[in-house]
Amino acid sequence: MLRASLHLDPAFTVGPVRRRTFGSFVEHLGRCVYSGIHDPAHPSADEDGFREDVIDLARELGVSTVRYPGGNFVSGYRWEDGVGPREQRPRRLDLAWHSTEPNWVGVDEFVRWCRKAGVEPMMAVNLGTRGVQEALDLLEYCNGTADTHFANLRRANGAQEPYGIRMWCLGNEMDGPWQIGHKTAQEYGRLAAETARAMRLVDPDIELVACGSSGSGMATFGTWESTVLAESYDQVDLVSAHAYYREEDGDLGSFLASAVDMDHMIEAVVATADAVRAAGKHDKRIAISFDEWNVWYIDRAESQPPTGDHWPVAPILLEDRYTVADAVVVGNLLISLLRHTDRVHAASQAQLVNVIAPIMTEPGGRSWRQTTFHPFALTAQHAAGQVLQAVVEAPTYETRKYGQAALVDAVATHDAETGSLTVLAVNRSQDEPLELAVDLAGFGDLEVLEALTLSNADHTWAATADDAASVLPRPNASASVVASGATVELPPVSWTILRLVKRS
Ligand code: AHR
Repeated sequence: MLRASLHLDPAFTVGPVRRRTFGSFVEHLGRCVYSGIHDPAHPSADEDGFREDVIDLARELGVSTVRYPGGNFVSGYRWEDGVGPREQRPRRLDLAWHSTEPNWVGVDEFVRWCRKAGVEPMMAVNLGTRGVQEALDLLEYCNGTADTHFANLRRANGAQEPYGIRMWCLGNEMDGPWQIGHKTAQEYGRLAAETARAMRLVDPDIELVACGSSGSGMATFGTWESTVLAESYDQVDLVSAHAYYREEDGDLGSFLASAVDMDHMIEAVVATADAVRAAGKHDKRIAISFDEWNVWYIDRAESQPPTGDHWPVAPILLEDRYTVADAVVVGNLLISLLRHTDRVHAASQAQLVNVIAPIMTEPGGRSWRQTTFHPFALTAQHAAGQVLQAVVEAPTYETRKYGQAALVDAVATHDAETGSLTVLAVNRSQDEPLELAVDLAGFGDLEVLEALTLSNADHTWAATADDAASVLPRPNASASVVASGATVELPPVSWTILRLVKRS
């Protein structure tokens, strides 16, 4: 059998496991909001029309923050449309997704949903069709404490206490020519800086995210970040990164190595931000908010918005059905985010429900977990303490997109208080199992608490409403501790969590 090893030392850490790494995203897109989180006719709907089955699944997923309301949607959004009496809210064209936005859910409902789901809201302002003033108005509406118009409007709409929303995105993907109000880096950098400066006058405690690139394949990737941060460095705290991956042309090998690209993207953004820091003689470091990441089959028919005179409310859009291989990639992308915890301070999987999502629903009916739900939920639940520096020695394979890639990728977290160690690992081989040996010298006497592996003879298996449980992470009986190490067998195309605790 092929062999790989993972070398760890409790003294060599990258940084803390951050709960915000396990963020998600709710956009007014397709059925994410309407019939996703909100479905007043559903049997489980609460007094606000929120599906409690979906709230339960979001809790089980372990989501920490939820970005809202977009995405491309935010670049044409008037937040005022979504507050106040429902019957008076206007229906609007959603130009980003060629849909009708009925405004049944707005800021107040979203914040109430967040409170119920136990998540932190992360709000985006429209810097596409709007600007500094509208961002200030929304911030005052949400966080204002004085006796002033927008804070009073929030109170009149039923929320006496300010929402205290801390994380704010300064627009969305403003580098993308598809974005309503798309800007050059110079134009956006100035607008982001001035919006941020003004927003801090309303609330100095907010954390601000400038738009980075919408993908590492953008022609402007790198120069965009450099120009935007040169303009806004002192005013912002984080810069965003977005990345979507898919299997193309039957190239499963490259797809399974998608985290190689995420690693490169993170390291390139860090290098660019640090170059701006040095040139500008700044003290602070800019962190990354990886606030859109996932597997997305963007070329498939279900990702194409309606056209012509058809402007539906909540059409079926981006409803990808995820395979076991997709779930392995999602697990691997989380490994990449965790190993960069020193600079990736927040992340949002895009999106939460129905739209390229781990949770699926039928309008008025069933909800279920996609394959991608499981690696996210288990990682969010069990990654704890400090992320350790991990040296992986593994055989490599040739990929079309990324050259030589390791067959095994892994990360580990260590909770110094309890002594427990969590190892997350993928096997990217399509046909060979691999034995992973984890070097435990320095961790004391550990034993296996649990080992779970997600894999299937048919890696194209996908969950449906009728069968979401035939393929789940299953106990991996091969895991054991021998001498100063643990070993576990990783089947082909698999994701594994190995949990070790102090021997009792
Ligand atoms: O998540 C789907 C879309 O992908 C978002 O609206 C946009 O920001 C990105 O291009």
